[in-house]
Amino acid sequence: MRVVFSIALWVFFLSVNGLAKFVVEKNSLKVTSPDSLKDVYECAIGNFGVPMYGGTMVGMLTYPKANKKACKSFDDFDISFKSKPGGFPTFLLVDRGDCYFASKAWNAQNAGAAAILVADDRIEPLITMDTPEEENLSFSYLQNITVPSVLISKGLGDGFKRALSNGEMVTVSLDWRESLPHPDERVEYELWTNSNDECGPKCESQIEFVKSFRGVAQILEHKGFTQFTPHYITWYCPDAYILSKQCKSQCINRGRYCAPDPEQDFSRGYDGRDVVIQNLRQVCLFKVANESGKPWLWWDYVADFSIRCPMKEKKYTKECADDVIRSLGLDLKKIDACVGDPDADRENPILRAEQAAQIGKDSRGDVTILPTLVINNRQYRGKLDKGAVLKALCAGFQEATEPAICLSEDIETNECLENNGGCWQDKAANITACKDTFRGRLCVCPVVEGVKLVGDGYKHCEASGLRRCEINNGGCWREARDGRMYSACTDAMTSGCKCPPGFRGDGVNSCKDIDECKEKLACQCPDCKCRNTWGSYDCSCGGGRLYIREHDACISKKSTAEFSWSFLWFIVLGLASTGAGGYAVYKYRIRSYMDSEIRAIMAQYMPLDNQAENPSRVRLAEI
Ligand SMILES: *[C@@H]1O[C@H](CO)[C@@H](O)[C@H](O)[C@H]1NC(C)=O
Ligand SMILES: *[C@@H]1O[C@H](CO)[C@@H](O)[C@H](O)[C@H]1NC(C)=O
Ligand SMILES: *[C@@H]1O[C@H](CO)[C@@H](O)[C@H](O)[C@H]1NC(C)=O
Ligand SMILES: *[C@@H]1O[C@H](CO)[C@@H](O)[C@H](O)[C@H]1NC(C)=O
Repeated sequence: MRVVFSIALWVFFLSVNGLAKFVVEKNSLKVTSPDSLKDVYECAIGNFGVPMYGGTMVGMLTYPKANKKACKSFDDFDISFKSKPGGFPTFLLVDRGDCYFASKAWNAQNAGAAAILVADDRIEPLITMDTPEEENLSFSYLQNITVPSVLISKGLGDGFKRALSNGEMVTVSLDWRESLPHPDERVEYELWTNSNDECGPKCESQIEFVKSFRGVAQILEHKGFTQFTPHYITWYCPDAYILSKQCKSQCINRGRYCAPDPEQDFSRGYDGRDVVIQNLRQVCLFKVANESGKPWLWWDYVADFSIRCPMKEKKYTKECADDVIRSLGLDLKKIDACVGDPDADRENPILRAEQAAQIGKDSRGDVTILPTLVINNRQYRGKLDKGAVLKALCAGFQEATEPAICLSEDIETNECLENNGGCWQDKAANITACKDTFRGRLCVCPVVEGVKLVGDGYKHCEASGLRRCEINNGGCWREARDGRMYSACTDAMTSGCKCPPGFRGDGVNSCKDIDECKEKLACQCPDCKCRNTWGSYDCSCGGGRLYIREHDACISKKSTAEFSWSFLWFIVLGLASTGAGGYAVYKYRIRSYMDSEIRAIMAQYMPLDNQAENPSRVRLAEI
């Protein structure tokens, strides 16, 4: 009798909340063949299996000859949907009815199907396929369903069946890329959960999830990629029952906040009231941890509490909870103050806010199922499993802002590996414009060693601005020969390439040496001997004269010497002051010494004809 009453009361609580708005989360289904069905349709994401948030999947549709509702194992019919190597994956089309959606998915998965499409059997708006409500051990397979499952409308299902019976090939692409909003570089998510650990497989899988996801969640939170908030559902006791024994044992603050009895039996174990208080403590713990800048401690607390204070061992108590809180170094007094007095006849602001948050806002429906995960204000559909949830979180980041963990191999495929994603690249310099993202790839010119490359990212990228020549020589031609290096990139130009003097060409692929002698561009004086070199030329003047490259002219060595004498006049004065006598004695020797000095100094300013190799010229051309 008692149990029945408990369940009736429970149902009553739910129906108080009965105007619940439930939002069917959808993904899109694109038919690529046959032509008659080509279009994009909506389908509803099932509440089990692993939807590929952020991804797409292409397959060929099959409608089984027997077991059309997939309520039995396909082994019994000797049917397999395993695709052969190189073949398309099989999407299995089955009919609604006769058994749980989840068993259809399980049977389809076991037969090798890659996804299951359940065709509705009535004309109605799309519904969410949920897991069986019963907590029955024969449903342990639920956790093992990994194929994505979707519900399609009766109309589309009929269309598919017609096309297949006509022998047409039906190819379908399931697309979850837009199933979650992804507006910016931070994902906000909420987990609606419960501290109750005695509600059977559902509670166990909740706790398993918290334990396995904790590490990832904490890293993401720590680095600011996510903002997580835990939530707890409570119900209130209808006025007429406030003084009843049931309400007293299930509720706190005089019927204002209640939770169902953990074992659904009032006479034994813990009461709903204990669960509400513990839930409240968890919200308060989050609040205090968040205020101290460490919101991620919630994950530690919940995981540790479930291990150290289980109901089964009769440790679901305040004392045990306090031990865990102390071990995390959190302020116990603040948490106690937040929890307040459960017997007081007044509102608790924290729980009142939790009740208000239960009501759906914008794109999110009311929260009625536990556990519920809400990502970017959309309810997550699918299995509560580390990999699946991480995938969904990753799908909530704006393109190219996702954390590295989203780009690891087991989470997504790197589109840049194949054909460089169709983006620009410079293989020799190992620079690419392909940027792998969770949802696909982007072609954007990269920043290399602090230098920004600009261009369309597909066909063209080039370095720009200061230091641009440091990056792959600004994409310009460059060549070295015999210890000389010439480049078509100069920092003086902010973009583009230009062959250096002595060369001619596009500056990107090639610059060809100009033969100054043949083209009569220099060294054309009557007695001059012209010899072309790579990037330059040598010219020697007849009659022992010097070649002045700047003026393309020859001058006599004598005048050069006189000019240099005046140029170094003060040095001579200095030398003269050291001793006039010495001057006379050493005049001849000094003169000859100076002559060679001057030649060396001049060589730095202008090339001298009979010097075999001119180091300063090489240096000027070098970059
Ligand atoms: C569990 O469900 C199966 C059918 O799916 C049913 O035959 C069985 O009696 C149920 N067991 C319990 C304990 O409810
Ligand atoms: C589900 O998977 C677990 C672990 O992989 C396995 O132990 C269990 O037997 C599976 N359950 C069913 C019904 O296949
Ligand atoms: C947690 O802290 C952040 C920043 O301090 C704040 O924006 C956020 O609203 C807080 N969350 C809750 C549930 O108090
Ligand atoms: C190219 O660069 C990437 C990372 O920048 C590196 O992992 C890869 O090994 C490089 N490849 C070659 C051929 O240098």
